[in-house]
Amino acid sequence: MQWAQHCPLTLEFDTASEVSEELLYLKKKEGYVGKHSRQYRDFVFKEDDVLTLTYPKSGTHWMIEILSLIRTKGDPKWIQSVPIWDRSPWIEILNMYEALEAQEGPRLITSHLPIQLLPKSLFTSKAKVIHLIRNPKDVLVSGYFFSKVCSSFEQVASLQEHFERFLQGNVLCGSWFEHTQGWMSMRGKESYLMLHYEELKRDTRSTIEKICQFLGKTLEPEEMNSVLKHSSIQAMRDNKMSNYTLMDGSNFNLKNGPFLRKGVSGDWKNHLTVAQAEAFDRMFQEKMAGLPPELFPWD
Ligand code: A3P
Repeated sequence: MQWAQHCPLTLEFDTASEVSEELLYLKKKEGYVGKHSRQYRDFVFKEDDVLTLTYPKSGTHWMIEILSLIRTKGDPKWIQSVPIWDRSPWIEILNMYEALEAQEGPRLITSHLPIQLLPKSLFTSKAKVIHLIRNPKDVLVSGYFFSKVCSSFEQVASLQEHFERFLQGNVLCGSWFEHTQGWMSMRGKESYLMLHYEELKRDTRSTIEKICQFLGKTLEPEEMNSVLKHSSIQAMRDNKMSNYTLMDGSNFNLKNGPFLRKGVSGDWKNHLTVAQAEAFDRMFQEKMAGLPPELFPWD
């Protein structure tokens, strides 16, 4: 599949009121709008589907790699022969939706959509949702570097410009705060698991065990070791089915940076000024007031 044809900005909504203005899925980019939205809204989730749900730059691809490897019990053949976007297609992306509909058996599905845009069938099915969140300051910094690599991201002149846009929700997928709160409203549902990039990074094995438990899967110790080995950032960088070199030259330009950049927690400290970090924290307090702090265990 050619990614350029499947850029996330391929959505169109019936009325502006369906989605608040700040969601940049609404933003009409020449050539990217139309064609798709009514189809994906009718998508029927099945009870054995597993949906990876993230705000962009939260570790989506890492989660897909892990879920792919859990599915094959650590056997790397699948991840080394099928592109990551075909193993867990994005429901909102043109044609990937069609591939998903045609797929037999349990499906891995990905989405960056805010909760109000997901097909209604998700909420009546027993499909499992894994919501991976990450320190939004790291999400912001990761997104800034990614904007140099991927033309679907807003092109900005500086980190300060990206910072301002991020706080305003004027970036792809809109406000991190609203996106995150929206999906967190599923907390307590049996079919919903919220995970943090930071815990996945700190204790990958235990977090994968948690995922297996949620999915009702078990891995033998050597299978678990293989999942860990093949989902490491280095293994993903070396895997052309996961490192996006197959997409280089479409709307990805890997000369401007790797698809899999640093893969660490807390990189924001190397890039944000004290004033930016403080402004961010003020906004965070304001927007996320009322949610228990233990939901955000990163600083
Ligand atoms: P950085 O840019 O901070 O390095 P997404 O997949 O949602 O686009 O998220 C991308 C972020 O996840 C990038 O963060 C990337 O390096 C990180 N990532 C991807 N695979 C990873 C892995 N195996 N281990 C740790 N981090 C990973």
